[in-house]
Amino acid sequence: MTGHFAFDVLIIGSGAAGLSLALRLAEHAKVAVLAKGPLSEGSTNYAQGGVSAVFDAADSIESHIQDTLIAGADLCHEGAVRFTVEHGPASIRWLSEQGVPFTLEARDDGSREYHLTREGGHSHRRVVHAADATGRAIQTTLEERARACPTLRLFENHVAVDLVTTRKLGLTDNRCVGAYVLDRDSGRIEVIAARFVILASGGASRVYLYSSNPDGSTGDGIAMAWRAGCRIANMEFMQFHPTCLYHPAAKSFLITEAVRGEGGHLLLPDGTRFMERFDPRLELAPRDIVARAIDHEMKRLGVPCLYLDISHKPAAFIEEHFPNVLATCLDYGFDMRREPLPIVPAAHYTCGGVMTDFAGHTDLPGLYAVGEVAFTGLHGANRMASNSLLECLVFAASAGQDILTRLADVPPPPPLPDWDESRVTDSDEEVVVSHNWLELRRFMWDYVGIVRTDKRLARARHRVELLLREIDEYYGHFRISADVIELRNLAQVAELIIRCALARQESRGLHYTLDYPETDTAHPPRDTVLVPGNWALAERMPGW
Ligand code: FAD
Ligand code: SIN
Repeated sequence: MTGHFAFDVLIIGSGAAGLSLALRLAEHAKVAVLAKGPLSEGSTNYAQGGVSAVFDAADSIESHIQDTLIAGADLCHEGAVRFTVEHGPASIRWLSEQGVPFTLEARDDGSREYHLTREGGHSHRRVVHAADATGRAIQTTLEERARACPTLRLFENHVAVDLVTTRKLGLTDNRCVGAYVLDRDSGRIEVIAARFVILASGGASRVYLYSSNPDGSTGDGIAMAWRAGCRIANMEFMQFHPTCLYHPAAKSFLITEAVRGEGGHLLLPDGTRFMERFDPRLELAPRDIVARAIDHEMKRLGVPCLYLDISHKPAAFIEEHFPNVLATCLDYGFDMRREPLPIVPAAHYTCGGVMTDFAGHTDLPGLYAVGEVAFTGLHGANRMASNSLLECLVFAASAGQDILTRLADVPPPPPLPDWDESRVTDSDEEVVVSHNWLELRRFMWDYVGIVRTDKRLARARHRVELLLREIDEYYGHFRISADVIELRNLAQVAELIIRCALARQESRGLHYTLDYPETDTAHPPRDTVLVPGNWALAERMPGW
């Protein structure tokens, strides 16, 4: 028996985007929030550096906008950048009102203001943070608020499988009216009907073998939106964070960019600095440049890692600013107060995603996308550090406002049919799933990584097409599990990344290809827009 639920708003995701939107709506609507595992298991909880916003008297909104545009390699949508940056300070204040314990510092007049740190691409100190565990502070605070809220229903261990649209129900006016959801504890598929559905499901960095992200970053929202007919843009711009701890057991633990912001140096194995050969901004160049420089030097020297050194700073400074990184590195046997840390780049952030406007609307009425799952135009070809949490908060607020103005006008959805399991059996071939998962992530790392070529991309496309066919067949015959859902979505997202990468015949920001090593300056910059059923590549959308 399928369980049936109905809400005004269904939010798929419980990170910064999902929970901040839920809290903004909770007083006015019946809201459900889904999380694949515990509420805290999204990327938000692992964010370290902080949230960028203009608070320093010497800084300005224009400067934050300019830095973002430069980091984005001429591909950001200036309107989206301005919208985000202008709403930044209010979003931080809202978080403070919720109780997020940001690090403060005393000023000469006795007042206490946000302590601002610095990261790559920022020409000023403008990163508000809670020591080096900003994400945990945000996630914990929002979770406490959400758990105390009587009008919020939190579904942990629930995996959205697919969106329900009125078109699939045979009605003419297409609208998103809910989702099928796997309850991992009971193994049942439930159907949740809602007047508004929000994808706040995070990114897809786990499509690569090495990633700073938690296991759940499998691009589910992007794949679901694609299957439901939404346009997806700029998936070639997958960001690799330059400095993850190199240790077999550390699962690509991130060493925050703020370590470089506070004076950390990148070193070759012989102890020499090398960034001056790549960019005059040295260690604080935007991330695409630093990650590529590290990758280049590792390949040139044939070494498995390079080093990040901040041991020239006083131990007390490191203990105060980086307590979380210090403790974790000590657990792995490295003392950053005394020695350089071994580092490698790892997949970190999905700049592309489901196309939305400033209110989070996707192409499908009733469906919104907010946070890392969305493409708003903010990041261009390379996201600037600490602009992601900012985007989650700003767009959650604007989507929330939009939903509140429409709540009274949208009727409840019609009754939704049960999930059909009449033709499937239990799988006796689980090994297929784990094998395909590993194969996919390995060839994405080898062929669609930091440096690309047409030949490698074509090889990856061929492999992903075979995998998609195999996964589809498996999906059609066996009862689904969370692993199968994620694998199907990852393979779908991998195909979108490869298609976008093949379509962009230039190097720009995070997309670097040896076949077209220069940026195309002969034509106006364009987005790579994938249209379901058409695979068309469009120019930048006017007014988008
Ligand atoms: P997430 O926080 O990833 O949450 C996704 C949610 O969706 C989870 O609850 C998950 O369970 C749920 N979900 C996904 N699929 C489904 C499904 N099918 N069904 C049900 N639920 C689903 N950005 C910054 O701006 N500053 C930083 O300092 C920073 N540091 C970072 C450090 C690390 C190690 C990482 C990994 C990222 C960092 N980022 C940082 C990026 C930033 O943390 C993320 O982009 C941001 O937190 C994404 O928030 P989100 O709410 O969109 O998604
Ligand atoms: C970091 O702390 O280096 C991550 C910042 C980010 O991804 O924005």
